[in-house]
Amino acid sequence: MASTGLSQPIQMRLHNNNNKCTADFPATVRPGLCRRGGRVSLRASSASGNQTAEPDLSVTVNGLKMPNPFVIGSGPPGTNYTVMKRAFDEGWGAVIAKTVSLDAAKVVNVTPRYAKLRAAGSNSSTRGQIIGWQNIELISDRPLETMLKEFKQLKDEYPDRILIASVMEEYNKAAWEELIYRVEETGIDAIEVNFSCPHGMPERKMGAAVGQDCELLEEVCGWVNAVATVPVWAKMTPNITDITRPAKVSLNAGCEGVAAINTIMSVMGINLDTLRPEPCVEGYSTPGGYSAKAVHPIALAKVMSIAKMMRSEFGDDKEHSLSGIGGVETGGDAAEFILLGADTVQVCTGVMMHGYGLVKKLSSELRDFMKKHNFSSIQEFKGASLPYFTTHMDLVKRQQEAIRERKAIKKGLLSDKDWTGDGFVQETESMVSN
Ligand SMILES: Cc1cc2nc3c(=O)[nH]c(=O)nc-3n(C[C@H](O)[C@H](O)[C@H](O)COP(=O)(O)O)c2cc1C
Repeated sequence: MASTGLSQPIQMRLHNNNNKCTADFPATVRPGLCRRGGRVSLRASSASGNQTAEPDLSVTVNGLKMPNPFVIGSGPPGTNYTVMKRAFDEGWGAVIAKTVSLDAAKVVNVTPRYAKLRAAGSNSSTRGQIIGWQNIELISDRPLETMLKEFKQLKDEYPDRILIASVMEEYNKAAWEELIYRVEETGIDAIEVNFSCPHGMPERKMGAAVGQDCELLEEVCGWVNAVATVPVWAKMTPNITDITRPAKVSLNAGCEGVAAINTIMSVMGINLDTLRPEPCVEGYSTPGGYSAKAVHPIALAKVMSIAKMMRSEFGDDKEHSLSGIGGVETGGDAAEFILLGADTVQVCTGVMMHGYGLVKKLSSELRDFMKKHNFSSIQEFKGASLPYFTTHMDLVKRQQEAIRERKAIKKGLLSDKDWTGDGFVQETESMVSN
């Protein structure tokens, strides 16, 4: 058994038996969650009951009640107590902390580690809007004990707010079990498993190295779900041919939710003066992860295909949750994810660019969208745009039918030469306005 580093030793007695587990450590089941066959059951539904003038942004996802669907995505905005407290104070629906592992000493970051992509400015002297962001940042480099202490402090001070731990470990069952137990001990409400970090540490079989290999993923999800007593979300990498495969494996292996997407593997650019790649560290660089506005359409496509898979493979979408991530800066961006089936929407780079107050703008813009369409709750429009995705073949068939129908109706005549004897009355009627 791995060393736990806990103040008192824990005796783990775990057996994976239909996703049930017994363990000698205490189970931390959050109030308000119901249990389903030994695991926390989940429900994704709007908490709104009463019709109010203002649309209700609150959601209940996997039993977790949030004042709005806006969640701080794992990254710099969830690195320590001060910034996570700020997120709660500003009104974020939930906070996902920066990813932690057992041994932060192995995590060594470099600076600079970010690079921006800007749209062309309106003239040569103006700098365009930031549309893309690359990072080569690793997971949290702070000692696990420190992060855990801060999780506990946040939960003590904000017992009704949702704090989610993001975790990642090496390919080692005991290490995963220990990490899950230790983060749960702090009172966090759910766990997001980072199967998706595209850069750094693939040699340690961490992050995307697991998320890109469905066999490894199934095994690790099994380890995690055998010990976890709070809802578990699996965070997906877009750096894979078919993102629905790992999403399905994770849900089949007992995860309550899927989050997508993490960053897209990228090379931000080459400095044409120095001929060196960006971000440049001592003259060198390494491929990183791409985020912000430029990835939004790609993220929408991934979320759409995962949502369709969840509906077709798992039936009714209430049993599992979906968290949309990628390039959200407006309430409209968030509405798009929800229309494609997301229960919650995560924001990371948007907070790095605009600050924690962004949640107020996101909320008011989402409310405006809901008012425009008379939606009183998030649940009312969740997945509403999904049925309008089909195959190219079907688009061709629909278009041919529509053209046939328009021709059959024959509205108006282009020229007097078009009058016919047989259709004369119908042709006359087609030009009457009342
Ligand atoms: C600087 C930076 C650091 C990040 N670190 C993490 C991390 O530690 N764990 C994780 O799961 N995702 C991490 N991410 C990915 C984000 O949570 C998110 O999935 C991705 O950036 C896309 O969303 P966005 O466009 O809102 O940033 C990081 C992203 C950035 C920009």
